[in-house]
Amino acid sequence: MAASVVQLIIMTMILALSASLVIIIVGKLLFSMWVLPCLAYRKLKANGFSGPKPSFPFGNLNDIKRLKMMMTRSSSPLMSISNDIHSTAFPYFSLWQKLYGKVMVYWVGTEPFLYIADPEFLKEMAADIKGKGWGKPNVFKHDREPMFGSGLVMVEGDDWVRHRHVITPAFSPANLKAMGGLMVESTTHMLDRWAGLINSGQSEIDVEREIIRTAGEIIAKTSFGISYENGREVLEKLREMQFTLFESNRYVGVPFGKFLNLKETLKAKALGKEIDGLLWSIISDRRKNPPTSGEPEKDLLGLLMADNTVDGRKKRELTTKELVDECKTFFFAGHETTSLLLTWTLLLLAVHPEWQNDLREEINQVLGDGGEIRDVSMLAGLKKMGWVMNEVLRLYPPAPNVQRQSRQEIQVGEVVIPNGTNMWIDVVSMHHDEKLWGKDVHEFKPERFNANIYGGCNHKMGFLPFGFGGRMCVGRNLTAMEYRIVLTRILSTFSFSLSPNYRHQPSHMLSLRPMHGLPLIFKPLPIN
Ligand code: HEM
Ligand SMILES: *[C@@H]1O[C@H](CO)[C@@H](O)[C@H](O)[C@H]1NC(C)=O
Ligand SMILES: *[C@@H]1O[C@H](CO)[C@@H](O)[C@H](O)[C@H]1NC(C)=O
Repeated sequence: MAASVVQLIIMTMILALSASLVIIIVGKLLFSMWVLPCLAYRKLKANGFSGPKPSFPFGNLNDIKRLKMMMTRSSSPLMSISNDIHSTAFPYFSLWQKLYGKVMVYWVGTEPFLYIADPEFLKEMAADIKGKGWGKPNVFKHDREPMFGSGLVMVEGDDWVRHRHVITPAFSPANLKAMGGLMVESTTHMLDRWAGLINSGQSEIDVEREIIRTAGEIIAKTSFGISYENGREVLEKLREMQFTLFESNRYVGVPFGKFLNLKETLKAKALGKEIDGLLWSIISDRRKNPPTSGEPEKDLLGLLMADNTVDGRKKRELTTKELVDECKTFFFAGHETTSLLLTWTLLLLAVHPEWQNDLREEINQVLGDGGEIRDVSMLAGLKKMGWVMNEVLRLYPPAPNVQRQSRQEIQVGEVVIPNGTNMWIDVVSMHHDEKLWGKDVHEFKPERFNANIYGGCNHKMGFLPFGFGGRMCVGRNLTAMEYRIVLTRILSTFSFSLSPNYRHQPSHMLSLRPMHGLPLIFKPLPIN
């Protein structure tokens, strides 16, 4: 009798305890997922920012999904090649801009984002903030952990300073020059492959796939000192990860959104682990077999692994996890964007054969007939090619947006951006803004970059293909060299036109990609 009373009391206590635990947990969750974002939103609203009405807990994700779907359904294979891509690749931003202006607030799940497509606002906002003072949105850092971890793209503060110091020397002019030979070699492999296909009667080639492979080979060799075969598994798994994280409409920013996309979440995690393992074996191989030449390694992996002693103290060393994450970041960032830049260039040159001819002429003038690259420093003389590169970066920026999170309160004129505000800077929108570039904004006109490094844009921050401020892309000089080498060799070997099978659908999948590849028809150049 007494025993069961005690039992009853204990049971009741356990029940009461678990009930209050549940209440505390739910309360905490509601606080962080509902109250805090709402407070942040109220502050933004009080400062005059408006935007589309969010719903809990999806924010505006369902609007984005709906507008994207409408756009995909309405695009037909016969769609002509229009460079006016903002309204097709980002229909939601295009619509919201018209309703709420070029600076507004929209919601990624329960996270408010300050959307910015106004270069003057951006300039005032960024004026006093150093690279070290910027954050990257926590919500993305979390979601993309298997892909970037704490690599340079994501780290902040003093850690960012340390990583950036270790990495910057890898892109010194001397190091870049040393990479030139390997770049030429990989490009030659690719062109030999193409010549083989063309000789056997196949003149249509999906150049997107081909160039991604070559850029992957180049990053594997130049940054990690390994062959394409050894880097291939890493590259393939990274691509699979990209498709897993960005192809489906995942519920990023939605509380427990992970569970709504359980399959993708688990797959990304597993891929991340596998890639880490592969990179580990590349790193330990290097430890076991250091380069024999006696010269210290100057490639990226060598620099990352070196004990960077400063005044006798080891200050700049990376931890093991940081080392792996940095390798992962570079494997991906080092080839994806460059190959997309080349791919979009080939599309525009296929549609504008007059520019193929202009560039060929320039190549022959600067490098001699046949365009053999004997000395990479001569590539700097390819001025028109530089304009073409900038014009393609303008129309089809491979990195179509830049993301930030404020780590302090920021005053912009009359308004205050609260500490912790997420920001989404819409680069595509600014690059396609008639007010900034003029009536011919959607036309392919490389000459606009002649004599004006801003391409005639009437605002210095209206052209941001590599980002802005201290966190600007570290790889841009490597890209500029690789671009010139690959394009020079292609133009000196073939002429090309667009295949009737091409379907124009630039899409946002972290980067800006041609959704259906880029089939081109190639012809060997007549030997004269
Ligand atoms: C066409 C080629 C490329 C484009 C369009 C591009 C674009 C960008 C952009 C927009 C950013 C963000 C800047 C910001 O937040 O303000 C960035 C950062 C970065 N890029 Fe690139 N990139 C390219 C090539 C490369 C290459 C070849 C590498 C490496 C070999 C690379 C490595 C990085 C890294 C590590 C960062 C982070 C820098 C930091 O936060 O300090 N990128 N890039
Ligand atoms: C901004 O917020 C973060 C996180 O809440 C905090 O750690 C940081 O100290 C704040 N910064 C300033 C300048 O108040
Ligand atoms: C790229 O090269 C230019 C000029 O050669 C130099 O001023 C700049 O610092 C370099 N940028 C990077 C990120 O290495």
